[in-house]
Amino acid sequence: MFDNTTDRRVLVSVSGLKMYFPIFGGILSRHVGDVKAVDDVSFDIYEGETLGVVGESGCGKSTCGRAVLRLYDLTAGTVMVDGTDISTMGQGALRKIRPVMQMVFQDPQACLNPRMSLADIIGEPLVEHTRLSKAERRDRVYDLMDAVGLNRDFANRYPHEFSGGQRQRIGIARALALNPKFIVCDEPIAALDVSIQAQVVNLLEDLQKEFGLTYLFISHDLSMVRHIADRVAVMYLGKIVELAPREGLYRDPKHPYTQALLSAVPEPDPVTHDTANRTVLKGDVPSPSNPPTGCNFCTRCPRVMEICRQQDPEFREVEPGRFVACHLFNESETAG
Ligand SMILES: Nc1ncnc2c1ncn2[C@@H]1O[C@H](COP(=O)(O)OP(=O)(O)OP(=O)(O)O)[C@@H](O)[C@H]1O
Ligand SMILES: [Mg+2]
Repeated sequence: MFDNTTDRRVLVSVSGLKMYFPIFGGILSRHVGDVKAVDDVSFDIYEGETLGVVGESGCGKSTCGRAVLRLYDLTAGTVMVDGTDISTMGQGALRKIRPVMQMVFQDPQACLNPRMSLADIIGEPLVEHTRLSKAERRDRVYDLMDAVGLNRDFANRYPHEFSGGQRQRIGIARALALNPKFIVCDEPIAALDVSIQAQVVNLLEDLQKEFGLTYLFISHDLSMVRHIADRVAVMYLGKIVELAPREGLYRDPKHPYTQALLSAVPEPDPVTHDTANRTVLKGDVPSPSNPPTGCNFCTRCPRVMEICRQQDPEFREVEPGRFVACHLFNESETAG
């Protein structure tokens, strides 16, 4: 745990990031609009920490994670990873920096080639990015298998012979192959049985300690994020509405959307669960291709004010380490 974040080294710094997907229409297939999947987000990730990203389906979590890894050409904004600005890097330069940043996916099945043995899957990045000999590669693959808890005897087997949890371990071993510093985990346990989710989460935590890894951990499971994240960013309709250290966020959520999201989480202790504070949001999430004027949350916010329908609230630090984008926290505005 930490509160005083100021003396920590920033490994990933994201500023004004936008990722729009163009929509083409009409007989001339003209550019008629954009899906604003990620719309001006800024955050830092400190070395060795886990930044959780939560929010409802479609709010832009995966797009944000993929954009940070430059799996897309960015619409706008800056992404710095380990001191290097990667926002506009070409494919050649990106290829060189890829080993530093990796991704663990929700569905390991989809990214494991069924015709490759486990050793080949885990060793593939080594073939592409290193000049290790065959024997050195095999040793490295064994080390990686040890690290993620896969029996070395499985090296020549194929993905279909493994359970979901084991397949996720293969995906993690592959992601670790090139000694990354930063890993985006996109719902890494969502596709797994509840009984093995904790094992994979524990593994990710152990590996983080062992290798000093920094995680961006995407999940819609608020309890899981509470467990694993040091700080949490809450997304709504392409924007980060709140970012705070874990304890503060869960104890005292500031943004009305965070409050609503947390009030929907089943409380483990029914005695302290104050049902009177339960906020149920009305209406649907607006389309990211046509977000409302003003605050993106104004159409559903239980505490909406006049200004919210006119002006997009600034994402600002309202207490040390606590960032909120909400007019309720802008005194000069609400006073007048
Ligand atoms: N390649 C794409 N082209 C067009 N639209 C896209 C593309 N990828 C994502 N989107 C849209 O961007 C928005 C954000 O999607 P994204 O997958 O990032 O959300 P998410 O928060 O990860 O959701 P989930 O929890 O369901 O995984 C959605 O409206 C989605 O339809
Ligand atoms: Mg997603």
